[in-house]
Amino acid sequence: MNKLHWITKSTAVLAIVAGALASALSFAATEPNTLIDPRNDAYQQQHPDQYHSWKATSESEHIEDALAEDPNMVIMWAGYGFAKDYNKARGHFYALDDVRQTLRTGAPQDENSGPMPMACWSCKSPDVGRVIDERGEDGYFQGKWARLGAEIANPIGCADCHDTRSQAFKNGEPALALAKPYVDRAFKAINKPFDQQSRLDQQASVCGQCHVEYYFTGPNKSVKFPWDMGTTVDDMEKYYDALGFADWTHKVSKAPMLKAQHPGYETWRDGIHGKNKVVCVDCHMPKVTKEDGSVYTDHKVGNPFDRFEDTCANCHTQSKDQLREVVSTRKAQVLNMKLTAEKQIVAAHFEAGAAWDAGATQEEMSDILQDIRHAQWRWDYAIASHGVHMHAPEVALEVLGTAVDKAADARTKLVRLLAKKGITDPIELPDISTKAAAQQALGMDMEQMKAEKAEFLKTVVPDWEEQAKQRESNY
Ligand code: HEC
Ligand code: HEC
Ligand code: HEC
Ligand code: HEC
Repeated sequence: MNKLHWITKSTAVLAIVAGALASALSFAATEPNTLIDPRNDAYQQQHPDQYHSWKATSESEHIEDALAEDPNMVIMWAGYGFAKDYNKARGHFYALDDVRQTLRTGAPQDENSGPMPMACWSCKSPDVGRVIDERGEDGYFQGKWARLGAEIANPIGCADCHDTRSQAFKNGEPALALAKPYVDRAFKAINKPFDQQSRLDQQASVCGQCHVEYYFTGPNKSVKFPWDMGTTVDDMEKYYDALGFADWTHKVSKAPMLKAQHPGYETWRDGIHGKNKVVCVDCHMPKVTKEDGSVYTDHKVGNPFDRFEDTCANCHTQSKDQLREVVSTRKAQVLNMKLTAEKQIVAAHFEAGAAWDAGATQEEMSDILQDIRHAQWRWDYAIASHGVHMHAPEVALEVLGTAVDKAADARTKLVRLLAKKGITDPIELPDISTKAAAQQALGMDMEQMKAEKAEFLKTVVPDWEEQAKQRESNY
């Protein structure tokens, strides 16, 4: 560690705290009755450096098919949308395109057809905060995903992390704000109200609006973070179990499953950087100095290694190659453990399916299904936190270890139960060696889903865009 950098940093922090106080006060200067402007372009003139670096997230355009890379996941998500398709994350600029294009959101032809609820827009667009501001939370959440398709028109941007109406923002101060009331409630639940957080904490919390675990609850399927008992994998598991909550019933094993979203904020907190208050922004949105000496925050959220001198090198003396090597070794370790857990969990799903076929009863199965639920929740918590091999590799490895353990518990019980039903040969798995083979093994009609999606993108989306254009022309 380079001590000098640390001293510089803590002095900067003091100055920053003073700034944060000032900007918290200027919150009150938000003009009432003004509408939130969700258009990112609208801030281009005012804040060109931030705007252009934000827009550069569009350079991360490559789509990677996670299911093709690892077809086990098709089986693990059998009966749930993620088995249809699942791509890795890319630039914020594409958030809206991607949620429209994924097969998971289906092909709604009118405002009442599903499959997804409105909540599914929540981490994709500053229009979400705008609509909640204008219509209240129920006015936003109620109904199906297509209901307000025409209202959600801009990808993740300025109004997701700033109160763009505040005087502080207009003055170019680093005024951060949460755009959604349910996020504010979640931070209160863990005794970290946003408006009382330090500037560093706020810098992590704005990312934590979306890079977190959440679920949909209540009659309107509103977003809630399951943090009432804490944010570790055990805390959230207990919370979901106490509620008897399940995201879906597994198609093969009939287990009541949980889908982890992307608990990146939670896992980062428990990693070495989180514990040392090195926040998301330190690595993903560094301060950069322009040729004229002025400083701004680089809004191109992407891979911190691409800007090594402004990120890691601020605190570490090792070379880029050295640190890259450390991170890629950890990535390989996490991947290896992930695949180990998958092998056990996939087998457990098929063995449970075979037990049902052999006439097992609900009573005989319930313990086993609970083990499968917990095993897969733990696997998902660890791997759905993108970048976890960097943020908290020890957390990922430990949690994946418990996933393997729970799956082994399920399988030990299954061997006994199957024997009781007269089945002593190992259960044979179908061909799941590719994404297409795994989807076929589950009887999924991918061609039809793709054709319906193409029709939706050709007819419904342009109509939404036209309506949005008209609305925005009145801003
Ligand atoms: C994902 C969250 C996020 C988004 C989206 C975002 N910002 Fe920021 N913005 C930040 C953070 C974090 C800072 C640094 C705050 C600090 O230093 O405490 C910042 C700082 C700023 C500042 C203060 C000056 C500076 O550069 O530090 C301005 C002005 C600004 N952003 C404008 C914008 C504009 C314009 C957009 C949209 C084009 C935008 N921001 C989108 C998170 C965001
Ligand atoms: C409003 C919700 C939201 C906020 C706020 C947000 N993100 Fe994201 N982020 C997403 C979504 C959604 C994606 C995936 C977009 C896609 O693949 O279409 C993503 C993608 C990313 C990626 C992958 C980028 C790439 O090019 O591969 C990184 C890194 C990331 N976010 C970090 C951050 C950090 C750091 C912050 C806070 C400064 C933040 N995000 C704030 C929703 C959000
Ligand atoms: C100490 C630096 C550091 C901190 C702090 C940090 N990250 Fe990262 N993050 C990285 C690096 C480096 C990578 C890429 C790892 C790699 O190249 O394999 C990454 C990867 C990611 C990814 C995956 C990108 C992708 O395309 O798969 C996301 C999402 C992400 N980080 C979000 C966050 C969020 C949200 C926070 C705060 C809660 C955070 N990061 C805190 C350094 C950091
Ligand atoms: C704002 C300062 C800061 C930044 C930026 C930062 N780190 Fe760190 N890093 C730390 C601190 C503090 C520790 C903990 C040191 C300790 O306890 O000895 C640490 C520890 C580490 C460790 C050792 C952790 C372990 O598990 O043993 C690695 C590896 C690491 N950082 C990599 C990175 C990489 C890669 C980046 C850039 C993507 C980065 N850091 C950015 C401050 C920072």
